[in-house]
Amino acid sequence: MVEKTLTGAGLRGQVAGQTSICTVGSQGNGLHYRGYDIEELADKASFEEVAFLLLRGELPNEAELSQYRQKLRERRKLPDDLCAVLEKLPANSHPMDVLRSGCSVLGNLEQETDFAKQMDVADRLLAAFPGIICYWYQFAHNGRRIDTESNSDSIGGHFLHLLHGKAPSKLFEKVMNVSLILYAEHEFNASTFTARVCASTLSDMHSCVTAAIGSLRGPLHGGANEAAMAMIENWRSEEEALTKLKAKLDAKEKVMGFGHAIYRTRDPRNAVIKYWSKELAKAYGDDCLYRVSEAVESFMWEQKKLFPNADFFHASAYHFMGIPTALFTPIFVCSRVSGWAAHVMEQRANNRIIRPSADYTGPAARAFIPLVERP
Ligand code: COA
Repeated sequence: MVEKTLTGAGLRGQVAGQTSICTVGSQGNGLHYRGYDIEELADKASFEEVAFLLLRGELPNEAELSQYRQKLRERRKLPDDLCAVLEKLPANSHPMDVLRSGCSVLGNLEQETDFAKQMDVADRLLAAFPGIICYWYQFAHNGRRIDTESNSDSIGGHFLHLLHGKAPSKLFEKVMNVSLILYAEHEFNASTFTARVCASTLSDMHSCVTAAIGSLRGPLHGGANEAAMAMIENWRSEEEALTKLKAKLDAKEKVMGFGHAIYRTRDPRNAVIKYWSKELAKAYGDDCLYRVSEAVESFMWEQKKLFPNADFFHASAYHFMGIPTALFTPIFVCSRVSGWAAHVMEQRANNRIIRPSADYTGPAARAFIPLVERP
């Protein structure tokens, strides 16, 4: 008989499969997409190049990138039947539920019947998500039916264009690009693992991504950027922030946007988004939110040796770009779908159904008691 052991809650530290897509923390606190350092990608690449890299294995050359951008632009239009469903969803829906439903509806209207065409399905989702979330948002909140096609070349610029009804500034488009790169991929995190489990049953891409959106929605995962914003937006000064923060720590509450399951001393994505949050604060004329965020960062390190993860400074950065807090996590989806789809394809390429075992902790085997004899 095989001896079963439970080495840690949350499967922490256990290897659950192989991947050639990404390494998290393998060189200290590093993050690499197919061998490329995230800090270099965020500095020098566009999100479309990174999505191409994740999905196809190599960076595109100039001609490939131009064709890829064109392909993504051509796939932005949403089917009328999807728009009709989005119009039925109430304004108080959680935008992550809207995306989850939108992805699922698209899976009915554009079914993945042939895995040989999986790359097209991935590209379609990448192209369509900004339109799905913004179409619903504009209709539910402003009663407007928007055109989900824009002439913006970048996915980040396209999202901001649909949200604000006009082309974004160069600075905003650059920060969105960086943000989408930082969020694109992160090895066997909860949502990606969810996608792989679903893929391992040979299910379709839309089901895998829909399941992953459900996992990402929780505040311990993607929802942390929204939760961080909800926390810091109420603090009007560093003093107020530190008093309230201390009370939270004393009450053993979790502070959203801090800590990480793998990184131990820093999240490499934080320095990058923090830099851009500071730039945006200057452009926005902010004299509070960024300073409060920095004060929270220092205090958390002094008191708990906890560092900000990718989500913390994303909160202020998105806020400075005029993005409603409820749309923070959906932006994560618009990016992470590239990583999820890459993992689905990798799982399919060398598949065995994912089916771990459990340590049983229930009652020992016992005789059935007929209904009339039960106390
Ligand atoms: N605020 C306060 N305390 C925290 C904390 C936080 N954000 N993150 C971790 N801790 C505490 C834990 O409660 C634990 O304390 P204990 O030993 O007294 O129980 C200790 O630090 C070690 O936690 P750790 O094992 O490193 O965390 P984890 O691997 O179980 O969880 C997270 C990792 C990310 C889920 C966790 O840090 C967290 O909930 N962070 C807030 C949510 C968040 O920002 N999520 C986005 C992740 S990218």
